[in-house]
Amino acid sequence: MAKNEEGRRDFIGMALGGFTALGGIGALYAMKRTWDPLPSVKAAGFTTIDLKDAKDNVLVVEKWRGKPIFILKQSKAMMDKVKDEDKKRLISMDGGHYLVCVGLCTHLGCIPGYNPAEDSFLCACHGGTYDSSGEVTKAPPPRGLDIPPFRIDGTKLVLGETGPEYEKMLADGITLKV
Ligand code: FES
Repeated sequence: MAKNEEGRRDFIGMALGGFTALGGIGALYAMKRTWDPLPSVKAAGFTTIDLKDAKDNVLVVEKWRGKPIFILKQSKAMMDKVKDEDKKRLISMDGGHYLVCVGLCTHLGCIPGYNPAEDSFLCACHGGTYDSSGEVTKAPPPRGLDIPPFRIDGTKLVLGETGPEYEKMLADGITLKV
């Protein structure tokens, strides 16, 4: 088995294991179903993901430098719900709006689960929640989900490179450097 594939299976197994704590086979099925990956290329610390086939409100989980990365395309209904100030956390590209964040709770690092029916993330470890922009809606997480360095290249997102949109997020205090 290729090393990358092995790593991906380990990661999926780990995330599913964490999610089991929430209970509910239906929920597990819903989460697994959303994990059809988008085309991506990994090389020397960079991960390039083509978002042109991303679907509204379907969570995609990628891996970058050993960390889970959540990618969530926002539907119009989701955009209507997200507060204006939290829209600054979203990446706008090719006519769509995306949450792209490290999928580790900012409290103590568990992997939150996504509930598409409520457009929200729940961290089962201590009950913290985040909205679809990755902003905290219930403590204890001290801040929103961190955003990895990125550069926009047409319909593609290059994780690990720093583009002007990411620089602005850093300067505006939207995310910490990861
Ligand atoms: S680790 Fe997520 S709420 Fe504590």
